[in-house]
Amino acid sequence: MRVLTRKDSDDVALEAAAMFVDLFARKPDCVLGLATGATPLGLYGRLIEAYGEGRLDFEGVTTFNLDEYYGLQPDDPQSYRHFMESNLFRHVNIKGERAFVPRGDISYRDVEAFCSGYEALIRGAGGIDLQLLGIGSDGHIGFNEPGSSLRSRTRLVALDPRTIKDNARFFAREEECPGLAVTMGVGTILEAAEIVLIATGSNKAEAVAEALEGPVASMIPASALQMHPKTTFILDEAAASLLKKRNLYMAAERTEGETGLKIY
Ligand code: F6R
Repeated sequence: MRVLTRKDSDDVALEAAAMFVDLFARKPDCVLGLATGATPLGLYGRLIEAYGEGRLDFEGVTTFNLDEYYGLQPDDPQSYRHFMESNLFRHVNIKGERAFVPRGDISYRDVEAFCSGYEALIRGAGGIDLQLLGIGSDGHIGFNEPGSSLRSRTRLVALDPRTIKDNARFFAREEECPGLAVTMGVGTILEAAEIVLIATGSNKAEAVAEALEGPVASMIPASALQMHPKTTFILDEAAASLLKKRNLYMAAERTEGETGLKIY
C-alpha cells in the first residue's frame, strides 16, 4: 500500500484533494465513495475551493456515502445526509439525484431490501472509482466495527460502544447517538477501483499501525485494505507515529518523486 505522511491535517487534505482533482480530469463522470466525520472536513473544504476556482466540475459525478445512522430522518441535523449537504453537496454543482447516502429512516422490514438496492445502485453506476475512508480509533471503516466479516455487504449494524463514545462529541448527550447504522460492507468497499484512507491525530495512531502493519483480521476491519491492490493512506505525523516501517514508506515516496510512478 502507499503510505504518505504529511506534516498536519491541512497537508493531508491538500494531498487527498490532489487525488480527486486528478481523477476528475481523467474521468469527469467518475463515481466517488464518500465519508463523513471530522477528518474529511478539510478535504471537502479544498474540493469546494477547487470547484470555485473552476478546477473541479461535479456535473457528471455520482457519489455514494458509506453510512448513515439508523433511526434518523435525512433532514435531522445529526444525519450524515445533512452533514454531506452542509459540508459539500450544497456548495458544488453535483446533481441531487446522483448524490446517494444510505437512508436511516426505513423500517426494519424494508432494511434488507434497501441495502441490496444500494449495492445494486453502486453496481449500476459502474462501481466506485475512488473510495474515501476515515478510520475509527477501533479500526473500523465505514461503520464496519471490529468483528465485521471481511466480505460483508451493505447492511444494518450495531455500533461498537467505543464508536458511540467517540461520536458522542457530535451530540448534545452520549445517549442521543444512535446505536444502529446502515453501512456499506468491507466487501463493498474492497470492490472500489482505488481507495484513499485519511487519518489525523494521535488517537488514530494505534488503529493505523494495526491496519497497515498488523495481520489481516476482522477485529481491525481496516486491515482488510491490505488485500486491496490500490490503496493509499495519507496520514499526518501524529497518526503515523506508531508505524514501524516509516523508512520504507519514505523511500517509496522518494522513488515516486524520481520516477513519477505510484508505488503501492
Ligand atoms: C464516516 C465513517 C467513519 C469515520 C470514522 C472516523 O462516514 O465511515 O468510519 O470515517 O469514524 O471519524 P472521524 O473522522 O470523525 O474521526
